[in-house]
Amino acid sequence: YLMGIDIGTSGVKAIIIDNAGRVILSKIESYDINIVKKGWMEQDPEQWWHGTTKVVREIVRESGINKDEIKAIGFSGQMHSSVFLDENNKVLRPAILWNDTRTFTQCKEIYTRVGGLEQLLNYVSNPALEGFTAPKILWLKENEKVNYENLQYILLPKDYIRYKFTGDISMEMSDAAGTLLYDVKNKRWNKELIHKLDLKENIFPKVVKSTDIVGSIKKEIARELGLSEKTLIIAGGADNACAAIGSGIVENSKAALSIGTSGTIIAYTDKNNVETKGNLHFFNHACDNSWYLMTVMLSAGMCLKWFRNNILKTDKTYEELTNMASKVLPGSNGVIFLPYLFGERSPHPDPNAKSMFYGLSSNTTPEDLIRSVLEGVALGFKDCLASIEKSIDIKEIRLTGGGANSQLWTSIIADVLDREISLINVEEGPAFGAAIIAGVGSGVFEDFKPILDKAVKVKKIVKPNKENVKLYQKYYKIYTLLYDNLKECN
Ligand code: XUL
Repeated sequence: YLMGIDIGTSGVKAIIIDNAGRVILSKIESYDINIVKKGWMEQDPEQWWHGTTKVVREIVRESGINKDEIKAIGFSGQMHSSVFLDENNKVLRPAILWNDTRTFTQCKEIYTRVGGLEQLLNYVSNPALEGFTAPKILWLKENEKVNYENLQYILLPKDYIRYKFTGDISMEMSDAAGTLLYDVKNKRWNKELIHKLDLKENIFPKVVKSTDIVGSIKKEIARELGLSEKTLIIAGGADNACAAIGSGIVENSKAALSIGTSGTIIAYTDKNNVETKGNLHFFNHACDNSWYLMTVMLSAGMCLKWFRNNILKTDKTYEELTNMASKVLPGSNGVIFLPYLFGERSPHPDPNAKSMFYGLSSNTTPEDLIRSVLEGVALGFKDCLASIEKSIDIKEIRLTGGGANSQLWTSIIADVLDREISLINVEEGPAFGAAIIAGVGSGVFEDFKPILDKAVKVKKIVKPNKENVKLYQKYYKIYTLLYDNLKECN
């Protein structure tokens, strides 16, 4: 058996799979984000650790599996969220999360210090975004001087939790990629950039590969969690890399499109020289010598939730809402929705991007608006896919996340993208990917592809409808015009 542990934003999830990649049991322990003030999102790493110990103890007990039969544990976690440690490896302050936007000034400063976007892309292949780790370290330096002076190591959530298991301080590569200080193409800390930002060089730990065995479980931790000291500890991966693995995205021209709270497309590539122009993320994947391009829409499923809670003020289920929307013909009677409720990351890295309904008339109904929300999110995905396909071609798109449960939304996505959409049999997300990594790292699986071909199957393919495709092509033109022409007003 293998275990995966994912340190998410809303909770920690543990999963146990067997040696054929089948899910035996999964468990979640939830926690909250501390919103200190507008845009300031924090979590105490102690919350993650508390959640982890609880969920691991429970899953081992409930599964009834003998602890000696758990061969290895792999780790996954939210990217970018900074854990600041002092010289005794004690946490200095709460972690600043990936969705925190306090570092607007520091991002500007990064561009000034390096001499613009192009130079930053040369260094680390990514743009400076508020959520990334580097601007957070700068923020600490400028705003909490004593904490910065005492800063000995910077870690990321799952690397910190792995440290709690083993006492080994290291950062895993697919997560180092999201710090904005790691040279993603050449796989090393970018010392020149670290100097330009005037950051302490020794705070960056050694970088390990996803499948590396990193230390071993401390005796007292094994006892506390009901684990065996012999269970191998495998580095794991960033949650997006793990999610991609869990959806079988381990070869060229495959991508996963996920409709969760946010909306992501992750596309695999084995080339390290992909040009991104800075409106995509380009990170190291968890498999060897591979990378992925990623777009992040800040609100996807969130748009439907917002419309239900804030506008309709109803407790209808998402299924009831999408049933209402299915009564309306494609095109929502002329209404087009822009999904930029929190500003946007991809393909417009624009915190001031605004959401809107365009085309309202005296006949517009709530049903039209619900459908237009589903269509607007799909149009956002089309925009993202187009920017990925400027760099690499995608042949297969696998739909994941809560949105994949809606037949209507799935077919809208197929029609808007004018692509076949594959639905898969496993929906366990990053924790599942982390367990697979544990399997490859411990030698239970010879490599990623053979086990994923066996464990992750396409259960259905949804094809686009030609007429709807034509209609949505017109809508897409208007959709892009709306943002392009109105952005000056923001
Ligand atoms: C990726 C990102 C998020 C977090 C969520 O760049 O910020 O997807 O990884 O956990």
